[in-house]
Amino acid sequence: MAKRFSPAALRLAVRAASGNVAVTAAAPRASFAAKPMHRAFSTTPRKASDNLMVHRHTSDNNPDIPFKFSPENEKVIAEIQKRYPPQYKKAAVMPMLDVGQRQHGFTSISVMNEVARLLEMPPMRVYEVASFYTMYNRTPVGKYFVQACTTTPCQLGGCGSDVIVKAITNHLGISGGHTTKDGLFTFIEVECLGACVNAPMIQINDDYFEDLTPETVVALLDGLKAAALDPSGKTPIPKAGPLTGRDTCENSAGLTSLTSKPWGIETTRSDL
Ligand code: FES
Repeated sequence: MAKRFSPAALRLAVRAASGNVAVTAAAPRASFAAKPMHRAFSTTPRKASDNLMVHRHTSDNNPDIPFKFSPENEKVIAEIQKRYPPQYKKAAVMPMLDVGQRQHGFTSISVMNEVARLLEMPPMRVYEVASFYTMYNRTPVGKYFVQACTTTPCQLGGCGSDVIVKAITNHLGISGGHTTKDGLFTFIEVECLGACVNAPMIQINDDYFEDLTPETVVALLDGLKAAALDPSGKTPIPKAGPLTGRDTCENSAGLTSLTSKPWGIETTRSDL
């Protein structure tokens, strides 16, 4: 049985050495076996992502900066924790990090340590979550966090995300990953945000702005800036959603199917 699993060249070489096979017959196979065997491996260059994977203590992000949830947020996290069985309370790590980020402005190491303390988790486990999901900003961001989707549907839909990115970077005077000097805008490019049907689109803080053109995106940024700088707070914040005037993602030519009046259970159940 062992013979069946030995390489043929090795078996021939052993038999030749023991005189079972003529050396002349074994020679070509033996020289083949003696040749160094190389396997080709291909690799891609390592892409460093210092922002996500590496923490360096800085003056605004180090464990000596105290962080506690505010009394209002303590109520929120108590409510969140009720949704999980006590033995699985660490499952609340993501919503709690989110609350911490909203309170502190970004997911600092102090926020992560406090979440780890409350959930009785090793801090490293919390760092792993916060550095894996891109929704957690590990460094401070501006008042408006602008995320432009540049995945294929947004790249191809409408005017295309390339011109949207160009309009944003030209207008704000920053490139991806940077914040404007006034601290109002941080801009990054991101992957699909799930609103491909209204491409191209961007997310600003929690809101989606869709069906963009270079003109509407510049007007949007100006509108946000005006709202932020208005001391009276009366300047309205631009409305989220498609900027072409359509309501959600309906056909621009109007309804072409499902045109009858929608009906539900009340149509089939006269007793209701
Ligand atoms: S590709 Fe941009 S939202 Fe999906």
